[in-house]
Parts: sequence; C-alpha cells; structure tokens
Amino acid sequence: MRLTILGGGGFRVPLVYGALLGDRAEGRVTRVVLHDLDAGRLSAVARVLAEQAAGDPDAPEVTVTTDLDEALRGADFVFSAIRVGGLEGRAADERVALAQGVLGQETVGAGGIAYGLRTVPVAVDIARRVARLAPDAWVINFTNPAGLVTEAMSRHLGDRVIGICDSPVGLGRRIARVVGAHPGEAWIDYVGLNHLGWVRGLRVAGRDELPRLLADPDLLGSFEEGRLFGPQWLRSLGAVPNEYLHYYYFNRETVRAYQRAEKTRGAFLRDQQAGFYEEMRRPDAAALTAWDRTRAEREATYMAENRDAAGAGEREDDDLSGGYEKVALALMRAIARDERTTLILNVRNRGTLGVLDAEAVIEVPCLVDANGAHPVTVDPLPGHATGLVCAVKAVEREVLSAAESGSRTTAVKAFALHPLVDSVNVAHALVDGYTAVHPGLAYLS
Ligand code: G6P
Ligand code: MN
Repeated sequence: MRLTILGGGGFRVPLVYGALLGDRAEGRVTRVVLHDLDAGRLSAVARVLAEQAAGDPDAPEVTVTTDLDEALRGADFVFSAIRVGGLEGRAADERVALAQGVLGQETVGAGGIAYGLRTVPVAVDIARRVARLAPDAWVINFTNPAGLVTEAMSRHLGDRVIGICDSPVGLGRRIARVVGAHPGEAWIDYVGLNHLGWVRGLRVAGRDELPRLLADPDLLGSFEEGRLFGPQWLRSLGAVPNEYLHYYYFNRETVRAYQRAEKTRGAFLRDQQAGFYEEMRRPDAAALTAWDRTRAEREATYMAENRDAAGAGEREDDDLSGGYEKVALALMRAIARDERTTLILNVRNRGTLGVLDAEAVIEVPCLVDANGAHPVTVDPLPGHATGLVCAVKAVEREVLSAAESGSRTTAVKAFALHPLVDSVNVAHALVDGYTAVHPGLAYLS
C-alpha cells in the first residue's frame, strides 16, 4: 500500500512514519512518498526517517518529490499536512490579530480565518488533482483549520476526505483514565466542530460517569481540561469542552496572555523549527536526536499561555506523546483492512446535527470500516453550544465563499461575524492587515 504525505517536509512527519514502523500486519503501508514544495525540508525529514528505519529490513520505503501530480498518482492514501505561508505566516496571523486586540490562534478566531482564507484555495486545488489522478484514494486531512479545510476538500472529494485532530481523542483518554476506565472501554459522547466540541457523556459499562467526574473537585483537578476551565465552570456547563474552547470562554485572559508573551506560539515555533532545519544542513548532524529534542520542547510548551492564564501548571507526561499519528494510523487501518472501529473524526454531517445542513463538516464519533467513516447518532447540543457551532459554521461558509469568489467584502463579513471579533471596523482592519502581509491573500479584491 502506498501513502503520499503532502507537506512531507513537515516537522511532524516522523511521528507518522514511527507509527507505520510499528505496524507489522498484512496490508500495511510499504511505500511512503513525501511531497513538499521545499526540497531542503524534504531532505531534512528524509534523514530523520532513515535513522528511524535503520536496521529494520521491513521499514516502508521512502521517496521524496517536489512534483505534486507525481506524488498523487498511484496513492492509496493521501495525508494532507500542508502549511500555506509556513510558520512565518502563522506568526503574522497572530501579530496582525493581536494588534487589533483579538486572538490570532491558527484555528480559532481571526487567525483561523486568515489561515483558512489562504489555505482553502490550495486545498481545493489538491482535492481537484486527487479527484483526477487518484480517484480511489482516501484523503486524510490534518491541515488546519482542519474542519474548514476538510469541508472545502469534501466539495470535490465527497466522503473520501476525512479530517482528523487528536484533541478530542486526548480529552477522551484523559477523562476515561480519571474515572478509572481503560480508554478503549469508554464511550465518549462528543460532538461539535473541529476545536469546538463538548463531551456530554462518558459511558463505561453502560453507566454515565460524567456526573461523578463533574461532582468531584479532585478528579477535575487531575487532568488538563479540568484545570484549564476550573471545576465551577465545568459544572455549570455540565460538559467538558475541547481545550480550544478556552479561547472562547476565557477570551480576555487568553488575548492578554498572548499579548504579554515574549513570543507568540507561531513565532516560537518558527524560530525553533528554523533551528532544527538549519541543523539538518550539517552532514554530521544526529538527525533523529535533534528532531526528538525539538519535538519534546514543542510538546512541553503546547498551549503554555492558556495554562499560564488559567494557573493550570505544566502538562502531564502522558499528554506529551501526541497521538495524532495514532488516530491517522487507526483510521487508515480501519479503511484499508476493514478493521471496524470508532474514532472521532471530521466528516459531513448528513443528519447528525439537526441545526446544520447535510454537507457541513462536523467533528463526531464515527464508525469506520472499508466503506469509510459513518457518523453515529448523538444527542442534540444545548442551546449555548448550538449557538456557537452555528455562528462559527456560518463564518466558515463565508470563508469558503470568499475563497471561491475572491471577494474582499465577503472576507470582511467572515471576520465580522466571528463571535471573537467585536466590531465590523476591526474586521476591516484585519482584512487590511492580513492582505498587506500575506502574498497568499492577493486573490482578494
Ligand atoms: C493539537 C491540535 C492540532 C495542532 C497541534 C500542534 O494536536 O489539535 O490541531 O496542530 O496540537 O499544535 P502546535 O501549537 O504545537 O503547532
Ligand atoms: Mn487539531
């Protein structure tokens, strides 16, 4: 089986390759094609993969290319993990938003809209090429903002594109452990959009353990989301939100924390990763060691500003191992080998959330098999959550429409309608600011 990774020079590719190396079963991936626009980044990552594979005669063969069509032809699975505008673009997304006093996170609020506006046209071009060159391939989208980008691609690929994120899985794993259950035996009742979902039930052996969790301050203090949101707010909600909802429920504090930070997340990663890729240019560099050191530092500092703002302390060791590669591999195995499983994924709504239309991409537990991902029935969301989901989906639709028409007015509307952008004037200033710094937004007029 052949897997093509778009954004193959990206920093997290070795995580995926590591997961593939652990897969010995029949029907596993035997060939990996890395595609990237940047040949230097490709060779850096290829060096890390070669060290990972050292001494393993069955390691998947790796090839690299900067030719997109060549990368797509013959692919059984395509992982899309691109970053349009690079980490410099991510840092600019944050800077422009913070200058207007609003959040610039890459997936939430103004930053997510800016990133979406420059990513959607590229993702659509990829989707069209896949439809033409590898019509039977399954596309697994990691590219953020993952829900929006998956929806853009689904207009060309239908249900053959599936979006993934590890944050709901991490949340489910944490709360299952906290109530003393094995993550595999718990049913996590979770739904929403990507980075905008809520756990409303945690069933173990037929019993909902969520009320017990919400009632116990010690249990709530023992995992990341419990510490971020605080016991009182979680009890008021009667649910455990995805960690990214911290940006909504504590917006002032998170904006302030980012404004005060020495470097925003994007700027930190830009500099950190520039150091790694620079080091990889030295022929004698120990690639895997350098990569692993850089990865550990990245994971330890994940959402550090939010944890500071909430007084939530350090991340736990268990949370540092990522998990996104595990979701990707589990999804690929389920489809390729008909190994039935349930995973929380970004797929088209069909009739799952009655307030959204059938084509809207949502994040929801799905039954996965050789026929793809099928969303399961979930309870309706409470009014406050429905309100946010509908507002943000409406913004996503404006982003898709601006990307299609090139209309600057529509782009302004997308920013202005976002719940975390507090004035139409700010929306205008954001579009001015973003178009001034991003060549990828030159299509807006
Ligand atoms: C989580 C999120 C992803 C994000 C990743 C890395 O897994 O769900 O969407 O890409 O963290 O975040 P970072 O800030 O390190 O780029
Ligand atoms: Mn994510």
